[in-house]
Amino acid sequence: MTGSDDIRLSEALAAIDVAQTIDALEAQRVAALGKSGWVSALLKTLGGMTPEERQVEGPRIQGLRAAVSDAIDAKKAALEAAALDAQLAREVIDLTLPAPAAPKGSIHPVSQVMDELAEIFADMGFSVASGPEIEDDWHNFTSLNMPESHPARAMHDTFYFPDEGPEVAGAPTRMVLRTHTSPVQIRAMTQQGAPLRVIAPGRVYRSDSDATHTPMFHQVEGLVIDEGIHLGHLKWTLETFLKAFFEREDIVLRLRPSYFPFTEPSVEVDVGWQDVNGRRVLGGDGDAPGHGWMELLGSGMVNRRVLEFAGLDPDKWQGFAFGVGVDRLAMLKYGMDDLRAFFDGDGRWLAHYGFDPLDVPTLSAGVGAKA
Ligand code: PHE
Repeated sequence: MTGSDDIRLSEALAAIDVAQTIDALEAQRVAALGKSGWVSALLKTLGGMTPEERQVEGPRIQGLRAAVSDAIDAKKAALEAAALDAQLAREVIDLTLPAPAAPKGSIHPVSQVMDELAEIFADMGFSVASGPEIEDDWHNFTSLNMPESHPARAMHDTFYFPDEGPEVAGAPTRMVLRTHTSPVQIRAMTQQGAPLRVIAPGRVYRSDSDATHTPMFHQVEGLVIDEGIHLGHLKWTLETFLKAFFEREDIVLRLRPSYFPFTEPSVEVDVGWQDVNGRRVLGGDGDAPGHGWMELLGSGMVNRRVLEFAGLDPDKWQGFAFGVGVDRLAMLKYGMDDLRAFFDGDGRWLAHYGFDPLDVPTLSAGVGAKA
């Protein structure tokens, strides 16, 4: 009996040893230790033995049971460890691989320049205001001292909407695509009152197209309203702004007397440029051969009539206003020569002239492009 049990034990241990799966191991456990397993059968025989027999057989059979059970536990642990090793090997991440190249967008020069302007003017105490691109006739023209019959309306090559719009200021009005950012002057004054210091960047529309004109382009409006504001404040502000924007002190500005219905007096500001390799770059004598002036800015002291339209007392409040072509600023600063390319969406142009999204303009780090 003892000899045949030893053989069964070594057979069981061998089978346990070669088991490849938890299931195969379980089958071996059932065969030995299950209800009708051979070890369980041996244990049952203890009941019919004499105490003397039991003293010998008890420890022997318990020893068989422990040997099988220990072998199963050990094998189970080994199988589980092997399964974990296999899983870890499968799920390995090679941290030495270079990061995949992320598809990269860029910031359009117009957006970048608008951010640069906001940064420069924020430093001078200006906040940012906005108004709708689909504007009513009253805000775009009438309240800016351009009544229905005013010839300046024709100069704007306006895109009109066909239908009559809602009533504004007690009269029916037509809707237009705003021809300039100046209507935001009225909106800012009526909403915020005086004193006031705002810039208003945005899209404007005129039916016009050539190398320096597109039907949609960008302006930034500036407006300062306070007591005792005069032309000197305007001139200082524009000079300070342009020097900060172009990041050079030798900017050559030309101020020309001009006319806008909403400013009186009015001043147009040109900046001197020079031809270099077929490109216009800053600097130089605008009247000499190979040099010229680029019109950048319309400006002036806010007309009394405009203050009245906006509900302010013109005997108490004065102000100045200006409108800058953002696209032209970008062309001069970054050297593009055709405005139409700004709006072609050509990936090569954007890759060349666009800005890194992390290159956020700040006064401390510089409002220009990083090398
Ligand atoms: N709105 C004018 C234009 O588009 C520019 C301007 C703005 C002039 C503010 C004077 C004051 O031509």
